Amino acid sequence: MTDFLRLAADIAREAGDMLLAKRPARPEAVHTKSSLTDVVTALDRASEELIRARVKAARPHDAILGEEGGETGGAETGEGRVRWIVDPIDGTVNFMYGLPEWAVSIAVEVDGEVVAGVVNVVPRGELFAAEKGGGAELLRDGLPAERLRCTEDVPLSQALIATGFGYLSERRAVQAQVLTHVLPVVRDIRRGGSCAVDLCSVAAGRVDGYFERGPKYWDFAAGGLVATEAGARIGGLRGRPYNSGLTLCASPGLFEALHGLLVPLDPERDA
Ligand code: IPD
Ligand code: CA
Ligand code: CA
Repeated sequence: MTDFLRLAADIAREAGDMLLAKRPARPEAVHTKSSLTDVVTALDRASEELIRARVKAARPHDAILGEEGGETGGAETGEGRVRWIVDPIDGTVNFMYGLPEWAVSIAVEVDGEVVAGVVNVVPRGELFAAEKGGGAELLRDGLPAERLRCTEDVPLSQALIATGFGYLSERRAVQAQVLTHVLPVVRDIRRGGSCAVDLCSVAAGRVDGYFERGPKYWDFAAGGLVATEAGARIGGLRGRPYNSGLTLCASPGLFEALHGLLVPLDPERDA
């Protein structure tokens, strides 16, 4: 493990432990963002504050982009421009309802490229970790590290596909229409509630593929590296970068098939 990955993993574990210890029986939303369904709890903020404090203490010159606090700091050093990409809780709605699919997601970028990423799926005691060029692993207390590989050669008709929905009602209406064309031709659909966990599930072969319109950089920066280091391809439609609209992730063959299914459905339309 490089220093970046080790530090990211230590911080993600500490934030996860704090969240588990402090999570009330029913966390409440303290603020809404893009819509009434897009909520923030006090612990989203506390988690991000903890992560920022630990990164700053260890690496005072690095920039930090966090979902709740935006972008701060950052200076050129001999190592290049280092930026930490943080989603303090990915899957906040699950966190509020006591469902086990939420995670602390931390990625480290050097000069614009993600070089390390960790996704701590706290309630399940699973930490997914990846380094650029070094593969992806699942770490669990008391068990040997497990090397991750996505599924391969799965035809669309037998593919289990994860997806997610945005927070805006008009966007959800389009997403629901798109699904009416996808659901009949795949094995089934899963809506887990955390983009970061969905991407790790692709890496672990727990689903075969994932697509979603509009996830943000902090949702997929770490999970995207875990998935690609496990052999998956991540990208947007028609060769566009995956942060522009629709994000697709699957083994290369299934990626093509899913892409071919989705393009004519125009999933990036407004209404
Ligand atoms: C959300 C989750 C969800 C995805 C949304 C994200 P949040 O993140 O990743 O699965 O469908 O697009 O915004 O709000 O829980 O951090
Ligand atoms: Ca998120
Ligand atoms: Ca979040």
